Amino acid sequence: MGTVLISKKTAANLFKESNTLLEELRSKGVKPGLAVILVGNNPASELYIKKKKIACDELSITFELLRFDEKVSQEKILQTIDKLNNKETINAILVQLPLPKNFDTPKILNTISPLKDVDGFTAFNLGLLNYEKEEIVSCTAQGIVRLLESTGTVIEGSNACIVNHSIVVGRPLSQLLLNRGATVTICHSKTTDLAMHTKNADILITAVGKPKLINGTMVKSGAIVIDAGIAKENGKTVGDVDFESVKDIASYITPVPGGIGPMTIACLVFNVAKLAMLHNSA
Ligand code: GUN
Repeated sequence: MGTVLISKKTAANLFKESNTLLEELRSKGVKPGLAVILVGNNPASELYIKKKKIACDELSITFELLRFDEKVSQEKILQTIDKLNNKETINAILVQLPLPKNFDTPKILNTISPLKDVDGFTAFNLGLLNYEKEEIVSCTAQGIVRLLESTGTVIEGSNACIVNHSIVVGRPLSQLLLNRGATVTICHSKTTDLAMHTKNADILITAVGKPKLINGTMVKSGAIVIDAGIAKENGKTVGDVDFESVKDIASYITPVPGGIGPMTIACLVFNVAKLAMLHNSA
């Protein structure tokens, strides 16, 4: 059986690293602050936000949650972001995705100041990534690469396959892997033969939210399989990978829960600390 890649230790190390940065700020009398904008009451978003708040509380980061009914106007959200961009006590702004369908998500995300863009979703920060400048990088994408690197895996020269094409995971992750010398394939709902691509991957990452999307017949022997999918099946939280059929084929496999989730949260507090350092070094 391959190694089950639990992220607890790697996430805890990053928490410690973030806390060192935060202590430096505290010694200067600076208290970093994260503002989270939540529109509507998507249950998955509620759960993510709860975890983000616990992590911020643990590291004494001010956590300001701004909740809006899904009938709120887009203008109100844009005005709120504008105020937060100018608020001295807030270093980091996060708009929880997905937003309700009638919102112009790119417009909203790009109203966030790149200097407070904790998710790295603005065109500016995503653009920097294309220039191999990894300043503020998507928490899930960054968490996946940090966890991969913790295994000593050689990314350079590998074939990586990502099943997700969003700006939250797939697009920034493709850049991070490309920056490290991988040959990257991105699969999505229009991909005609998913297995053809996944079977060729030395590193396979999936983040779709479809239980059992990836089974043992779709995985190359010895591949590293990272499961960032989240769905509910019979009341249980599960990923995209049929764990039982893949675990003996993969060299490493992440569980759900306990795999990528804790890395995403650890990268969020790291990004808050990094932005607060930037904000206070000027
Ligand atoms: N929804 C799911 N994952 C994320 C994330 O990392 N950031 C934001 N803003 N929304 C999300």
